Amino acid sequence: MRVRERQSEAWPVDPSRHGQVESTGGLRPRRICVVGCGYVGLVTATGFASVGHYVVGLDNDQSRIQMLREGRVPFFEPGLEEKVRENQAEGHLAFITDYEEAIAGAEFVFLAVNTPEHGDGCPNLTNLWQAVLTVRKAARDHRPIIMVKSTVPIGTTQALASLLNTVSDNGTPWSVVVNPEFLSEGQALNAFLHCDRVVLGSNDERALREAASLYDSFDCPIVSAEFATAETIKYASNAFLATKLSFINEIAFLCESLGVDVREVARGIGLDPRIGLSFLKAGVGFGGSCLPKDTRTLVNLAREAGEESTLFPAVMRVNDRRRAVVVDRLRQALSGLEGRVVCLWGLAFKPNTDDIRDAPSIDIIRLLLADGAIVRAYDPMANARVGALFPQVTYCPDALTACEGADALVLLTEWQEFEGIDLQEARRRMQGDVLLDGRYVWQRSHVETAGFRYLNLAPAQPIRTPIHR
Ligand code: UDX
Repeated sequence: MRVRERQSEAWPVDPSRHGQVESTGGLRPRRICVVGCGYVGLVTATGFASVGHYVVGLDNDQSRIQMLREGRVPFFEPGLEEKVRENQAEGHLAFITDYEEAIAGAEFVFLAVNTPEHGDGCPNLTNLWQAVLTVRKAARDHRPIIMVKSTVPIGTTQALASLLNTVSDNGTPWSVVVNPEFLSEGQALNAFLHCDRVVLGSNDERALREAASLYDSFDCPIVSAEFATAETIKYASNAFLATKLSFINEIAFLCESLGVDVREVARGIGLDPRIGLSFLKAGVGFGGSCLPKDTRTLVNLAREAGEESTLFPAVMRVNDRRRAVVVDRLRQALSGLEGRVVCLWGLAFKPNTDDIRDAPSIDIIRLLLADGAIVRAYDPMANARVGALFPQVTYCPDALTACEGADALVLLTEWQEFEGIDLQEARRRMQGDVLLDGRYVWQRSHVETAGFRYLNLAPAQPIRTPIHR
C-alpha cells in the first residue's frame, strides 16, 4: 500500500497526469527507471520514452542531471538532444538524482552504469554493484524488475540475482533480466528504435514476458535465453565484428604489398550474402568503448574457463598493428619524426561522435610525441576531449588550418567533410607532401593529382613500433 502511495505522489512522469494512459502501436506504457545517464542509459531512456513509456533517468551526478533537465546532452550524438527535449516537454521523460523517488514508482529498473576496463582487461563492476545495493535499499519492499543493460562478464547477472535474493529482507523475490545493448554510436537512437533483435536473458519466465512487453511496438525478433546465454551473445556479437574488421585489415596489409585496392576486394567478397558488405571497411582499425574491450574480456573469460583463445588475441594484434604501422610509415617517409610536423584529421574513434575511448588517434598521438614529432590536429567534435589528454598538441578550428606548415597529413577518422575537401589547398598550406589516408577515403590518383606523395599502410619490415599494453 505504501508503495502505491509513493508511486502516485512522487513519480516525476506519472502517466495519470496525462489524464489517461495512452497506448502507442499496441504498446502498454510502463514506468521505467534508468540508472546511469551516460551513453547507453540516456539512449535507452530516450528511446523508451519516444515509443510511449514513462521514463525517469537517474544519475548520481547532479550537474549532469541539471544539464539534461535543461535539455542539454553532455556528449555529441546526432538527434539525441532534440528527442530528450521533446520527451521531457511531453511528460514522458524526467531526470532526477533521488533513488527513492525514482525507484518507488518504477515497474522496471534498468542498470546502465558504465563498466570501464580494469588494467587486467576485465570490466570494473564497482559502479554496477554500488547501483544494485543502492537500488535494493531505495526500493524497500517494492520489487521492480531489474534489467541489466551494462555489459557484464558472463555469470554476472546470475550473481547479481543471487545477491539480491540472498539478502531479500521481506521474502518477496527480485526478478532480474539481462538485456544487452547493441547501439552503434553516431546513430544510436535510430539503432535503438529500429534494432535487428532484442536479447533478453533470465531464469524467470514471468520477468522475461514482462520485459519482452516493453518492446511490443518494435518490429524485430526477441531472443529469450538463460542469463549466461544472453550475456555471451553480447560478447560474441562484438567479437565477431572485431574479427571481421581484423580480417579485412589483414587482407589490406596483403593488398598494399601487392598494389591491390582493398576496397574493391571488400566489395567483391562482401556481395556474397554469406559474408555481407558491412564491417568490411579497412583502415587504421577499430576503437570505441565496446569492440576492443569486449574482445579482450572474451580472451580473459576463456582463460578463466581454462581455455586459451587463439583467435581473439590475434584479432587484437592485427588491430594494434594497424595503428603502429601509421607511425612506422611516417617515420620512414619523413626520415625520422624528431621535429617533424604531423597533421591529423579526425580524432574520434569513428565519425559522428565525440567519443575517443580506445580511438586509434590516442595511440598514434602518443607514439608520435614519443618520437619527438610536433602534432597538429583537427576533429569536428573531439578536439576538446583529446586536448584534455594531450595538451601539447595544437588543436585547430578547421581542417585546412590544421595543415599549416605540416610535413605530413594523416586521415584517421572518415568524417564526411574530409571526403570532398580541397586537397590541393591542403597541400599548398603544408611544407611537406606526404599524405596517409588511414581510412581509404580518397582514390590514390586524386591524392597524387593534388600534389601529394601517397603513403599506404603497407607494413614496414621489420615493424619498429610495437604497441605494448
Ligand atoms: C559497437 C557495436 O557495433 C555495437 O553493436 C555495440 O553495442 C557497441 O559497440 P560502436 O562502438 O558504436 O558499436 O562502433 P562500431 O560502429 O561498431 O565501430 C567500431 C569501430 O570499428 C570504429 O572504430 C569504426 O571506425 C571501426 N569500423 C567499423 C571500421 O574500421 N570499419 C568498418 O567497416 C566498420
